[in-house]
Amino acid sequence: MSTIKNICCIGAGYVGGPTMAVIAHKCPDIKVTIVDLNAERIAAWNDEDVNNIPIYEPGLAEIVASARGRNLFFSTDIDKAIDEAEMIFISVNTPTKTYGVGKGMAADLKYIELCARQIAAVAKNNKIVVEKSTLPVRTAEALKNILDNTGNGVKFQILSNPEFLAEGTAVQDLLSPDRVLIGGGTDAEGQVAIKALVDVYANWIPSERILTTNVWSSELSKLTANAFLAQRVSSINAMSELCEKTGADVEEVARAIGMDSRIGSKFLKASVGFGGSCFQKDILNLVYIAKSYGLSEVADYWEQVIIMNDHQKKRFASNIVRTLYNTVSGKKIAFLGWAFKKDTNDTRESAAIYVADDLLFEQANIAVYDPKVKSETVYRDLDYLGTRGSAENKENVSVFNDPYGACKDAHAIAVLTEWDEFKSYDWQKIYDNMKKPAFIFDGRKILDGSKLQQIGFIFSEIGK
Ligand code: NAD
Ligand code: UDX
Repeated sequence: MSTIKNICCIGAGYVGGPTMAVIAHKCPDIKVTIVDLNAERIAAWNDEDVNNIPIYEPGLAEIVASARGRNLFFSTDIDKAIDEAEMIFISVNTPTKTYGVGKGMAADLKYIELCARQIAAVAKNNKIVVEKSTLPVRTAEALKNILDNTGNGVKFQILSNPEFLAEGTAVQDLLSPDRVLIGGGTDAEGQVAIKALVDVYANWIPSERILTTNVWSSELSKLTANAFLAQRVSSINAMSELCEKTGADVEEVARAIGMDSRIGSKFLKASVGFGGSCFQKDILNLVYIAKSYGLSEVADYWEQVIIMNDHQKKRFASNIVRTLYNTVSGKKIAFLGWAFKKDTNDTRESAAIYVADDLLFEQANIAVYDPKVKSETVYRDLDYLGTRGSAENKENVSVFNDPYGACKDAHAIAVLTEWDEFKSYDWQKIYDNMKKPAFIFDGRKILDGSKLQQIGFIFSEIGK
């Protein structure tokens, strides 16, 4: 089983969709079928108008258009795709558990286990099963047990191939990754499986960027990478609060330390707090794993990254209340941005959700504008928190299709996402239509504060 001709990917989400689309685009000789239980999502991937695919990522529609119907297929027929494939990627969601042992910390592996059982039941010949989802270290062991004990006597090789793409730059990250990591068995059969996957990536990735390790190192490296990245954001955010007290400017501090090649300049942008489906989930998972081995100092160390991030979101909201004379009750606060970062329509764990929640507790009226997020997503995010009823969220939050409408008659504007278009708005027009004094709270440090102050805004930003 060396040359792979047929790949199946279970899970057509933010990772499965773009990752497999790029494999299909770069490897025209491999048939790639992405399957999902969610028929609506699959229908959207198959939409005749490629601009209606369910995930917004710059360049993705073009990649999908290049391969869809040729060697890239989206389907709900999971059994058929498993049966036909030599290599099966599992790219389903692994959210934080919301029940039982490990609630609020551990990764919920129920979707992974369901995939393993389905693969075992269907497979009639040997398969390579690839963990693409982010998983706790040693999950491959559990997968192997399920596959070997419930299967039809065929042989399975398990590889770990974590995905490092970031949303908003997914296509670029996949076309030219810093590295691809493949973990597998150290025996001869494991090495053959590793080679099969290396050969797929070698179609467009230079060999020196394809790293192979044992399976446990690969699984743990993914959690470690996300923990280190999130830690940098929390570290600079911690300094941002100190800057605000001391007259230092966090941007200047970030530049000064970032020029030290040992520190590096990336991921030092102070913000309202990191969001996204990965950082918090993966650190909580890491903390849980450390605790489960009795490593309480290790667990406490990493948990602090989350504590700092929660603090950053909270203090952004409380600064708005304090600055608006200690009350936002009945005041319109315009939110520019709802997505967790620019160039994505993903809102999972977005800081905007938590800032909105805090301001709603203070009886504010919130007007949201985001260039890519739909109104139903905003309401779904707030309803999901469960802090108040859906009717109350509808009553106090409005979602606008244009930024000028969102900002009209607002007492304050809060920038929650760093969308580029915010920089080029007609800020004089926005100012003229707001209540006075007109406040701006830039949670992303993207606006030109001195220009806005000249217009008449009272401007404040993180870390200055
Ligand atoms: P997602 O929720 O967007 O997609 C997961 C998909 O899997 C869903 O469409 C769901 O319907 C489907 N699914 C679940 N169980 C299934 C089953 N038994 N059979 C068929 N389909 C099933 O999730 P995502 O953002 O793509 O993340 C997937 C994994 O990749 C997670 O482990 C995540 O931590 C990891 N990851 C995510 C990112 C990211 O940027 N989003 C980056 C790197 C790694
Ligand atoms: C992250 C990892 O970067 C990626 O490698 C992994 O595969 C998935 O998780 P993602 O969450 O998509 O990717 O985006 P990322 O660019 O890492 O940003 C995460 C959050 O941190 C965003 O809310 C972003 O705005 C915030 N952030 C990032 C900062 O506040 N400051 C920074 O300097 C960098």
